[in-house]
Amino acid sequence: MDNISKSVRKKDHEPKISGESIYVGDYQCAKDGSAILTGKILHSKIARARVLSVEVPDLPKGYFYVNAADVPGENKVNIVLDDTPVYCKDTVEYIGEPIGMVVGPDKEEVERILSQIKVEFEELEPQLDVRSSQKVFFDYEFSHGDIEKAFKEADKIYEEEFETGYQEQAYIEPQGMMAEPEKDGKMYVHGSMQCAYYVHGAIMRVLGCKPDEIHVFQDVTGGGFGGKEAFPSVLGSQVAVAAYKAKAPVRCVFDRREDMEYTSKRHPSICRYKAAIKNGKVTALDCDIVFNAGAYSTLSAVVLQRGIIAAPGVYNIPNIHVHGKAVKTNTSPCGAYRGFGAPQTFFAIEMMMDHIAQDLGVDTLEFKEAHLVKQGDMTSTCGKYHFPVPLPDMINEIDKVCDFRRKHKEYAAPQSGRYRKGIGMSLVFHGAGFTGSGERDIIKAVAKLRKYKDGSVEILASNGEIGQGVRTTFPKIVANELNLPFDKVYYNHPDTERVPDSGPTVASRSLMIVGELLRRAAIKLRSVWIDGKEQEVEEHFKEPDFMIPFYIDKFQGDAYPTYAWSVNAIEVELDTLTGVSKILGAYGSFDVGTPIDYNIVLGQMEGGFLQGIGYSSIEKMDYDSKGRIRNNSFTDYLVPTTKDVPNMVAMLHVEKYPNGPYGAKGAGELPLVGAPGAYVEAVEQALGGAKIHPLSHVPFTPDDTIAQLNRHREEI
Ligand code: MOS
Repeated sequence: MDNISKSVRKKDHEPKISGESIYVGDYQCAKDGSAILTGKILHSKIARARVLSVEVPDLPKGYFYVNAADVPGENKVNIVLDDTPVYCKDTVEYIGEPIGMVVGPDKEEVERILSQIKVEFEELEPQLDVRSSQKVFFDYEFSHGDIEKAFKEADKIYEEEFETGYQEQAYIEPQGMMAEPEKDGKMYVHGSMQCAYYVHGAIMRVLGCKPDEIHVFQDVTGGGFGGKEAFPSVLGSQVAVAAYKAKAPVRCVFDRREDMEYTSKRHPSICRYKAAIKNGKVTALDCDIVFNAGAYSTLSAVVLQRGIIAAPGVYNIPNIHVHGKAVKTNTSPCGAYRGFGAPQTFFAIEMMMDHIAQDLGVDTLEFKEAHLVKQGDMTSTCGKYHFPVPLPDMINEIDKVCDFRRKHKEYAAPQSGRYRKGIGMSLVFHGAGFTGSGERDIIKAVAKLRKYKDGSVEILASNGEIGQGVRTTFPKIVANELNLPFDKVYYNHPDTERVPDSGPTVASRSLMIVGELLRRAAIKLRSVWIDGKEQEVEEHFKEPDFMIPFYIDKFQGDAYPTYAWSVNAIEVELDTLTGVSKILGAYGSFDVGTPIDYNIVLGQMEGGFLQGIGYSSIEKMDYDSKGRIRNNSFTDYLVPTTKDVPNMVAMLHVEKYPNGPYGAKGAGELPLVGAPGAYVEAVEQALGGAKIHPLSHVPFTPDDTIAQLNRHREEI
């Protein structure tokens, strides 16, 4: 193991374990000592309606009702497009949409007032069906090769549809933001977030003020998983407007039901795949992908881009055509969640390959192996896999720990009795860092190091600690390069008044992109180091020279500089009486390049893998015929615990990336991506295989297993 990989105690370990950490909900008073007002949102109870009137009862002194009329700047939250209002204008577009906010000193009184507000709606017909939605937010298409010819010449053509559901991030700390007007006219906004500068940009626009009039700080954040990428810009804008009106600090912390029902989740998807087979190989793939974006466009453009780029998976298919749409429905806007569009399409391609292999009567894994991409091959967007593809070695590593090949053949034989076994394997990648030219054209990251007279070094960057360990791994890199003790280098939570914009905490980019900027900055500082003097150095992002420039209008070029890879195997024992699939083992080999801290990376791999298993098996969330999400608590929405997967083996395979710090690549999202394919293949095998039970959706729950068994019973 490289020296840099050796684990250290996390910088935030002590305060988090002892309970000293102050989360946004913990502040007893504002920065200047004044009392904090509680804000509670008036959510729409109707999925689509014109708001005719809002009747607010007489407000006691010190209480306010805040709505769109109070927005001093533009009533638009800056995300990608600007269609998300801060507070609704004339119509509401989903159940939960903020109409206004009640603000005041006493929480119970605020709730009482909220319950007395009468809203008169003129109900409109909501669009709830994804398939019939005519409102398309984003529509992308790309292809290479000659797809028509390949289908014309095919020996066999397969066509199938795959579906995936919502997934809720279920971070421990719900969404919460606080705004404090400062004496000099500035607005100080802080809370639970991934991207301080996103919040900064959004609030500037909403309050109609200059960059130095907004001050954003990331409080200790209890998990994000993507859910705190864009949403804090929305809630932050709402509390900022409320604080602006009340001229007092306002805090809004969601309760769990609000958080689960009304904040962004993973996009449900429908993927229709059509494959041409010639001489036992897939020669063409035509993918039609639809993501349910919800009521506003938020991050759907970029989520969809990542999803469609991954549509052919890890396979080299000479002719492809991919068409993807993100469509509007009158439901909570979807957004970022670990994997960002890729888990959906990877599920589709993995099941498609599995089903084709079974129909052709060949071994699933061997069929997949025969199609694997390798170094130098073209990517789906006519870019290039510039670096070695370690999948064959990783498959062998997994095979060794769980005896995959033998079990896979054994379980394929007809089984009888109450308990049946199955094992499945998925092969996936995760494009490391932002998709396309985002890093080069939009983010343009800057990171700094400030050395103090006493020889300590502070890291100045905007990437937030959300449990993934950047407060520890960034200082490890800098300390290593400067040959300083670890405790001489520190990294505070991002504060936009003190740190440059090194970009958002998303896309598994922080360590790979900003970590490398910091490594270079440390080298620079080392070369100019003068004892006893305060010094500062700065580094700017530069796209690696080897990259084939990406053009989004044509979907051509290197969508990512490199890829993290993973191979997952899941073995289940299915109870045909109850439908429950017990997980006998979950095995993952993960290549995220050099781990900058072995324990941190392993924790990410295990946690992400478990989250992916939840997504595949039990995390079910859906809305009813009125557009209301019914699974809004941990009673109705189950997330797995370690008890559900007692035998999890996560292994690291290291394929170093020369342009990442010490060879590190993006890590955070990868471990979730492959779980659905491996899990559903395993359940499918336990059910007797795809010829009897071709499975095509996640989550695949015990209810679904029973339904499959009943369907088959009826057929025979
Ligand atoms: Mo992340 S899912 O790119 O916030």
